[in-house]
Amino acid sequence: MSQATNQSWGGRFSEPTDAFVARFTASVNFDQRLAPQDIQGSIAHATMLARVGVLTDDERDAIINGLNEIQGEIERGEFNWSVPLEDVHMNIEARLTEKIGITGKKLHTGRSRNDQVATDIRLFMRDEIDVIEVELKRLREGMIELADREAETIMPGFTHLQTAQPVTFGHHILAWQEMLARDHERLLDCRKRVNVMPLGAAALAGTTYPIDRHVTAELLGFDRPTENSLDAVSDRDFAIEFTSFASILLMHLSRMSEELVLWTSAQFNFIDLPDRFCTGSSIMPQKKNPDVPELVRGKTGRVYGHLMSLLTLMKSQPLAYNKDNQEDKEPLFDAVDTVRDCLKAFADMVPAIEPKKASMYEAARRGFSTATDLADYLVRKGVAFRDAHEIVGQSVAYGLKTEKDLSEMSLEELQQFSDIIEQDVFEVLTLEGSVAARNHIGGTAPNQVRAAAQRAREALAALKAGA
Ligand code: ARG
Repeated sequence: MSQATNQSWGGRFSEPTDAFVARFTASVNFDQRLAPQDIQGSIAHATMLARVGVLTDDERDAIINGLNEIQGEIERGEFNWSVPLEDVHMNIEARLTEKIGITGKKLHTGRSRNDQVATDIRLFMRDEIDVIEVELKRLREGMIELADREAETIMPGFTHLQTAQPVTFGHHILAWQEMLARDHERLLDCRKRVNVMPLGAAALAGTTYPIDRHVTAELLGFDRPTENSLDAVSDRDFAIEFTSFASILLMHLSRMSEELVLWTSAQFNFIDLPDRFCTGSSIMPQKKNPDVPELVRGKTGRVYGHLMSLLTLMKSQPLAYNKDNQEDKEPLFDAVDTVRDCLKAFADMVPAIEPKKASMYEAARRGFSTATDLADYLVRKGVAFRDAHEIVGQSVAYGLKTEKDLSEMSLEELQQFSDIIEQDVFEVLTLEGSVAARNHIGGTAPNQVRAAAQRAREALAALKAGA
């Protein structure tokens, strides 16, 4: 009977696992993705065990050679993944024993799958965070250069999606860049808490072998070993932290996507997206749809979902490891893939955005966007702001009736509403005058946008040097 029970833990069992239960509890179909990290962790573990005298050097070498061969088999697609062997850990260990015999069974000395899987996920997350960071930097760089190029390009700025005041397109793009700068900080902060090593916590209480966790941590590039074995095997808050980062990032990308979708519409007509980021319609020949931003906006929902899954997964778990934790992988893998793809899409697309300058300018001119500038002009001439507001309101009402923007009215027309208005008013009623006047740090004036782009460039370069 025991030959039909699981070879890794079947010793105390008197009947084989139910076939459905074996399938239900297995994770190998998805956690095989952790194979490179599992092998990396095992090589470090074996190296440490030999260093402290638990394994001989020959045993260590046999284990390491065997694991390297297995890595090759997996990469070449020759590895035979077995569901009865449950997970990636036991599949690899069983194959090792098949290849090198009894020595393979010594690899698991002084560890458990509980600290093993926690270590694997952290190694995986660290690798993925580093890949994601490269894309995030590339996107930020693209935004900074686009903003610098478009520092003088005028567009309407909106509140409530109603034309508010003119801004520069560069200023708008740098607003996006600021969102991403904060996301970048969140990602790097998350990495610090990911990069801590659970190995050595064993099942939950530590191990009786004379292990040296600092050696293993150093071999694997972890900053330090975890402090508490119970916490080490059960903690997944680093995964929750990553999906929080991912949710906020996707929320930002989704807002940007929404603007890109609006801007490419015939109604806005602010930008063109190159054809390679769009698709057509099978029925309406005239259509060019902004699919890439729409999909990024759509994918935001699944990442929020993963954050909720992980929070809910953890909320009722008593210490220490519980099988519930096996459910952490699929949401995490999908969050990682989605973030990477969405960042790549944006990093490729943003430098290719072509602003339709004349159309943006015309839209800013149409919407009475310099009304605040006229009010500020009156205030500078001694009118109380509330009175100025009323005067400008009447001017706008007149403009609506006569279909004229403020800058298109004659001096006489403007003077109907206040005799304080003089010829110099036209300096502030132009769009160029309006943006140039907002000339302070954080303002939309073209020279401020260029200075902000330069500061952003330097901040990003400093981050690179520090990483
Ligand atoms: N497949 C498990 C997981 O993903 C590995 C750890 C299982 N440990 C155990 N004692 N059943 O979490």
